[in-house]
Amino acid sequence: MPDIRANAREQFLRDGFLVLPDFVDTDACDALKERANSLVHGFEPDDTVRSIFSTNEQTRTSDDYFLGSGDQIRFFFEEDAFGPDGELRQPIELSINKFGHAQHDLDPVFDAFSRTPDLAALAEAVGFGDHVLMQSMYIFKQPHIGGEVTCHNDHTFIWTEPRSCVGLWFAIEDATLENGAMWALPGGHRIPPKRRFRRAESGGTTFDELDTTPYPSEGLVSLEASKGTLILLDGLLPHLSGANRSDHSRHAYTLHVVDPTAEYPTDNWLQRPDLPLRGFRG
Ligand code: FE2
Repeated sequence: MPDIRANAREQFLRDGFLVLPDFVDTDACDALKERANSLVHGFEPDDTVRSIFSTNEQTRTSDDYFLGSGDQIRFFFEEDAFGPDGELRQPIELSINKFGHAQHDLDPVFDAFSRTPDLAALAEAVGFGDHVLMQSMYIFKQPHIGGEVTCHNDHTFIWTEPRSCVGLWFAIEDATLENGAMWALPGGHRIPPKRRFRRAESGGTTFDELDTTPYPSEGLVSLEASKGTLILLDGLLPHLSGANRSDHSRHAYTLHVVDPTAEYPTDNWLQRPDLPLRGFRG
């Protein structure tokens, strides 16, 4: 059982995040990475997928591919992964940005990683033991081309009433300042939400702008994380990560969990019509 500090809940409520080094065995990280790589190798992008990522005019198809991924395992490419001829510019294992969003329910290796007695005990200790696993992402942050993720909070994307989203971010490889570690604003979870991302009535997606003032640009702290570290993020915590210009990938796995008694709007982008929600105990 990893060491869960006695004041874990207090710290999480105070700062809006909690860094837990060595929460996961490095063997478990390696097994997940191997599984991720084999899923990528088994993926053959068909013409539809190629066209989504190699042209800018396929907005509708692109929206359908994304909006239909809530109960699937779908692969999303780095920008510019395909050349104008529709062929990948580099090997597929170096071309994928991430895959999601239901491997924690659909793939046995991801399921086992996402539901352990340690995670159940941690969630209980921090105060979200009854939450259910809404989505997962495996993020590659590829060497040289892994793009930046600008400052946001996750409640924007996984909206509930009242808000309940908690993010779990696992370092599957070391995350450093060079390869795009996360940054977060301590205490920033007390800033009310600024945007809500949802399905638009006319098709596609849209943002509701609730408060257009920017987040403070001062006070961010870097969350460098060695392989096996788990970082908990309050759904309202502002966070970001830089581009990866290094020679090393920065694989991470994320889960987002919500309170099943909170209202989950039908216009949230992520819908899972036929996939039952399960918690940390399965
Ligand atoms: Fe995020």
